[in-house]
Amino acid sequence: MRLHVVDHPLVAHKLTTLRDQRTDSATFRRLADELVTLLAYEATRDVRTETVDIQTPVARTTGVKLARPRPLVVPILRAGLGMLDGMVRLLPTAEVGFLGMIRNEETLEASTYASRMPEDLSGRQVYVLDPMLATGGTLVAAIQELIKRGADDVTAVVLLAAPEGVAVVERELAGTPVTVVTAAVDDHLDEQGYIVPGLGDAGDRLYGSA
Ligand code: URA
Repeated sequence: MRLHVVDHPLVAHKLTTLRDQRTDSATFRRLADELVTLLAYEATRDVRTETVDIQTPVARTTGVKLARPRPLVVPILRAGLGMLDGMVRLLPTAEVGFLGMIRNEETLEASTYASRMPEDLSGRQVYVLDPMLATGGTLVAAIQELIKRGADDVTAVVLLAAPEGVAVVERELAGTPVTVVTAAVDDHLDEQGYIVPGLGDAGDRLYGSA
């Protein structure tokens, strides 16, 4: 697993406002959207392109376009939906799939309760969106589902990560071609599974249900 923490003053500025408990839902949504776009810029550094010939008003030249098959963007429901617009803004050709993950409170295992995406993901670059990499259970289960369908190039875009979650992804997905792109790796997870200092419950803060 490759971990990429995006070190940029605009990322740090937006993340600080997201963390602030005084930030209201409307501002939180806008800043999360902007932050995802900055992370998407780094997350798509290896997006596949193809060479094309074009005619400018002055001369013929060659350039690049996003290649086919189209990249697939998969937000994990529900909080990942708050990251979708920010991601597809930079990837206009992307197809969008959806994954709903639920955790069994007894076994603590995450499983898929809803999925809407192509059965065959071979040869596709896949971008998974989930704001918080906390215990890592959900992200690991989601990526395993994508790999089961043939994905061989998966990038997870998360706003914030806990070291415990990063370690779980590293251990459970050892040897798979997975990159995690995040704005920060925080201090630790508390007993309730919240990232500390974190930003609270991302879904509640995005959708105003706190
Ligand atoms: N999910 C959240 O929304 N926040 C956390 O801190 C951890 C998991």
